[in-house]
Amino acid sequence: DQLRALLRQMPKAELHIHIEGSLEPELIFALAARNGVALAYASVEQLRAAYAFEDLQSFLDIYYAGASVLLKEQDFYDMTSAYLARAAADNVRHAEIFFDPQTHTARGVPMADVINGIHRACQDSPVSATLILSFLRHLSEEDAFATLEQALPHRDKFIGIGLDSSEVGNPPEKFARVFARCRELGFHLVAHAGEEGPPAYIETALDVLHVERIDHGVRCLEDAALTQRLARQQTALTVCPLSNTKLRVFDTMAEHNLLGLLDAGLLVTVNSDDPAYFGGYMNANFAAVFEALPLGLAHAQRLARNGFIAAFLPDEVKRRYL
Ligand code: ADE
Ligand code: ZN
Repeated sequence: DQLRALLRQMPKAELHIHIEGSLEPELIFALAARNGVALAYASVEQLRAAYAFEDLQSFLDIYYAGASVLLKEQDFYDMTSAYLARAAADNVRHAEIFFDPQTHTARGVPMADVINGIHRACQDSPVSATLILSFLRHLSEEDAFATLEQALPHRDKFIGIGLDSSEVGNPPEKFARVFARCRELGFHLVAHAGEEGPPAYIETALDVLHVERIDHGVRCLEDAALTQRLARQQTALTVCPLSNTKLRVFDTMAEHNLLGLLDAGLLVTVNSDDPAYFGGYMNANFAAVFEALPLGLAHAQRLARNGFIAAFLPDEVKRRYL
């Protein structure tokens, strides 16, 4: 119908996509063959059948195993090109893409190959695309500092710094010093907070790390004062509906709090997180949430517009979409 056509056709900005989470099983097998990497699964079908997650950690274990096939600069290029082609098909006009360098440098892949491969694919795409280097929060702050040091020769190729991986037990304040350094260097700052972790992590992401957006943030509604603050400041939340149901943050899409977040006046955006693992790219996320919740045309337009409002783009570029 009319709403579904609008959801597909409206120009979108995607602000929460892990490029390693766009690696489809078919490409995992192709890269494994190309690089001579052994996989724990015999076929694409067996691998896909393993994508039944109980929580964030059960997903992360499979996600890091999938990334082990990425060894050469061309592998990073091919993965990123495939994502950008898929994004273009969903009318994504701008993407801010996370990458997790520590996942790769720990396997001996040079930082230059990771960044140059992903960046070259962004430059070759008709989709506007920028990069956000994410620190893995289950590793130490010292490791994050070493990663920053290795990445700084490439500082012109990424615009921001993020924080992802296992949230509970790894609060934002663990990374206070390295985020302070990244802030001095002039990077945009974001962090995953309030996905599985408590609302207090959203607060310290704002007050200690000084992030500009919160990735996920859906648990903010458990704290009325925090919700009011996020609404007053218009801090963007990059919400990922299919991710939240696959990782059991909400048991069903009908129980997702996206409409509650919108009704609280929050700057909510819709994103795909790890589309190859969670069953869909941008349009699938919009379709799933509009299917399950009483949302209409005005909500669709507001969500798409929020993506551009919250993007790290110059005002004159944003204005074309607002
Ligand atoms: N890395 C990739 N996807 C993630 C998510 N949803 N939360 C935390 N870390 C991630
Ligand atoms: Zn994420």
